[in-house]
Amino acid sequence: MSWHLECGACGKKAVKPLATVCPDCEKPLLARYNLKELNLEHLQETWAKRPPGMWRYRELMPLENDEAPVTLGEGGTPLLEVDLEGDLSNLRIMVKDEGQNPTGSFKDRGLCAAVTRAVRDGALDFVVPTAGNAGASLAAYAARAGVSAQLFMPTDTPEGVARRCQHYGATIDRVDGLIDECGRLSAEYSATTGAFNVSTLKEPYRIEGKKTMMLEIIEALKWRAPDAIVYPTGGGTGLIGSAKTLEELSTLGLRGMNTRLYAVQGNGCAPIVRAFASGTEHAEKWTDAETEAFGLRVPGALGDFLMLRALRESGGGAISVTDEEMKAGARTLGEVGVGASIEGGATLAGALELRRRGELSEGETVILFNTAHLLTY
Ligand SMILES: Cc1ncc(COP(=O)(O)O)c(C=O)c1O
Repeated sequence: MSWHLECGACGKKAVKPLATVCPDCEKPLLARYNLKELNLEHLQETWAKRPPGMWRYRELMPLENDEAPVTLGEGGTPLLEVDLEGDLSNLRIMVKDEGQNPTGSFKDRGLCAAVTRAVRDGALDFVVPTAGNAGASLAAYAARAGVSAQLFMPTDTPEGVARRCQHYGATIDRVDGLIDECGRLSAEYSATTGAFNVSTLKEPYRIEGKKTMMLEIIEALKWRAPDAIVYPTGGGTGLIGSAKTLEELSTLGLRGMNTRLYAVQGNGCAPIVRAFASGTEHAEKWTDAETEAFGLRVPGALGDFLMLRALRESGGGAISVTDEEMKAGARTLGEVGVGASIEGGATLAGALELRRRGELSEGETVILFNTAHLLTY
């Protein structure tokens, strides 16, 4: 499939092989496909005939015609309708259970796409800053491709999480700081060693992998968009990817792609919630970030403006919840059989709060993203 890269902020085009950020303004690059070449009905029929998994949508993925992806069987995760008691009982709540990916989280989709593209473009060494899940994904896909992975991880990340990454042969440097400090060290490492940096939005393809979650959801709903999604937000790739799927399907001619996107963050680190409420285009960095949901402990995100734009244009919003509410949410999901991480629990807590505020209405189809399995902790 043919695609080009353009800056999400200034629109400047960029060269494809081993692309990083915009050469002019250093903002994230987005892949733009030649959608006019494609026919929606033909695509739907083709996709339906392929086995489940994220590469069934390869026409909307960054693969040249005869290229094979570096794959571990990612994607094709279940969309589970759950019966909940109480305030959410009269809504159709569905959980996209991303814990069922190869390393137990949705990060597999993004890193699978990024490693695939970079390896096909010649990269042999990779680096990423990580709260754990992205590191495990990079480590696994690098191992699968026979290339190296270097991770920078905060010292307070649980030991078991680090061991999960080491299991796949990655090298880990523990960092006395948060994910942004790990990001700085990853950039430095990349500059000095030439390792390819797959940090969130420092390259264009993690979004492409993440957008397949929404493609799967819409396909599972028989090509209808859900009324709302609730997404546990850190760097925001899944949120930006979901908005991109809605936009691409709409451009392809699918009607009704009007899902409201909601971001949920921990109240100890909620830069996107604060920026959404104050109406700014960018999110000011959050100081003294604290939440047990390590995946959501992102004080400042490169794609803040893309997230805020997606939330506003969709008619959605952003809310924060406490760690206790997230844990209660994860327990509630456990009671209906879903092994949710604390970030997955955050989406249930968020949906409850949105319902109380009147943002979600009776009968609506609402998707909660369980972004990682309980066991990843
Ligand atoms: C389990 C989990 N959920 C959510 C997130 C946040 O994802 P994103 O950075 O795409 O917003 C992360 C990121 O580390 C995560 O590990």
